[in-house]
Amino acid sequence: MRSTPVSSRKRVALIFGGQSSEHGISCLTASSVLKAIDKERFEVVGVGISATGRWSQVPLEVIADYQIVDGVAPQVAEPDREAVWMVGENGCEVATRDGGSLVDIHGVDVAFALLHGPYGEDGTIQGLFEMMGIRYVGSGVTASAIGMDKHFMKVAFEAAGLPVYPYVVATALRLEQDRAHVIDEINKLSYPLFVKPARGGSSIGISRVTDPSQLDAAIAEAQRFDPKIVVEQGFIGARELECAVLGNPAAPLGCDASVIGEIRVQAADGFYDYEAKYFDEDGAALDAPADIPEELSERLRRLAKQSFVAVDAEGLVRSDFFVLGDEIYINEVNTMPGFTQISMFPTLWQVGGMSYPDLVGRLIDLALERPVGLR
Ligand SMILES: Nc1ncnc2c1ncn2[C@@H]1O[C@H](COP(=O)(O)OP(=O)(O)O)[C@@H](O)[C@H]1O
Ligand SMILES: [Mg+2]
Repeated sequence: MRSTPVSSRKRVALIFGGQSSEHGISCLTASSVLKAIDKERFEVVGVGISATGRWSQVPLEVIADYQIVDGVAPQVAEPDREAVWMVGENGCEVATRDGGSLVDIHGVDVAFALLHGPYGEDGTIQGLFEMMGIRYVGSGVTASAIGMDKHFMKVAFEAAGLPVYPYVVATALRLEQDRAHVIDEINKLSYPLFVKPARGGSSIGISRVTDPSQLDAAIAEAQRFDPKIVVEQGFIGARELECAVLGNPAAPLGCDASVIGEIRVQAADGFYDYEAKYFDEDGAALDAPADIPEELSERLRRLAKQSFVAVDAEGLVRSDFFVLGDEIYINEVNTMPGFTQISMFPTLWQVGGMSYPDLVGRLIDLALERPVGLR
């Protein structure tokens, strides 16, 4: 076997941690990706963002060791020496500031940000990469921002003709100045309702409301996380089916859709809440592939690809649907879905025959293939 000369390996910056509630999950994901990445093709530099937002280079041995200890997820330590990004004649570099000098200088060909939620999945870090002219894995600024905002995501879906269940959007201003009208509008939806922060994730701040008397408390809870809220008509007895999409819109073959997976929530109300997602081992079962007719799988795969295009995604998305009898509705797309080895996105590809290491390589290749700048 011929090995790739070290100098021609592509240099990948894994960026993880961050200021969102998914900090610990992000560290675990970085550890999974680091172990799976093809060291013959890629050279890795680890860049952690602490919970307070400070960046530092993290040794690969430290990342490889990240694990849950006594129920506590790993954390990026607050650094004593911070990381610095530079763009110069040599392209993009990351270094560590040591007093007045720079040490540990590494060139970077492609950034792989394993961050979920605000300040990571929402277009902010993608904007930084664009400003630096660096290639990166996943969606650009617009798609990332749309994928984070349950209001504009629905607008994009509707414009593309994708089926969306009835909903009402309320900004903080409308709730303050025109609350009675907003409540009237909400009460035209059929209960149960799901009241959500517009820009959230992991089910945080979401309430299932079965009676108008619970509405004010649910709105207040959602507004703890985002001044803008989305209230949706709730499904009763719908199945939650998900599809993973990979690709670049400009690639000759467009994007590929995976087999379909199902989340089977154990709770009687079917609400896949924060507990069920991360803490309660029996909270939900993931079936991959889902036990559904081939014809339904095909329809979902087609809609998933359409959702990828609808939000102008790049690289990857996970598209989540509710299926009620014969009817399909789209719930959301995630532009940086859970990506540990046991998460739905990698599992769906694995069932389809692509291993986790191959998937990691494919994502980086997609990032390297696409041009920088406006595209
Ligand atoms: N309209 C709805 N009807 C029924 N269940 C819902 C509805 N909206 C959300 N849920 C439940 O709440 C969970 C989280 O909602 P979701 O919109 O996916 O938020 P997040 O971005 O936090 O994942 C879903 O997985 C589902 O179990
Ligand atoms: Mg969701």
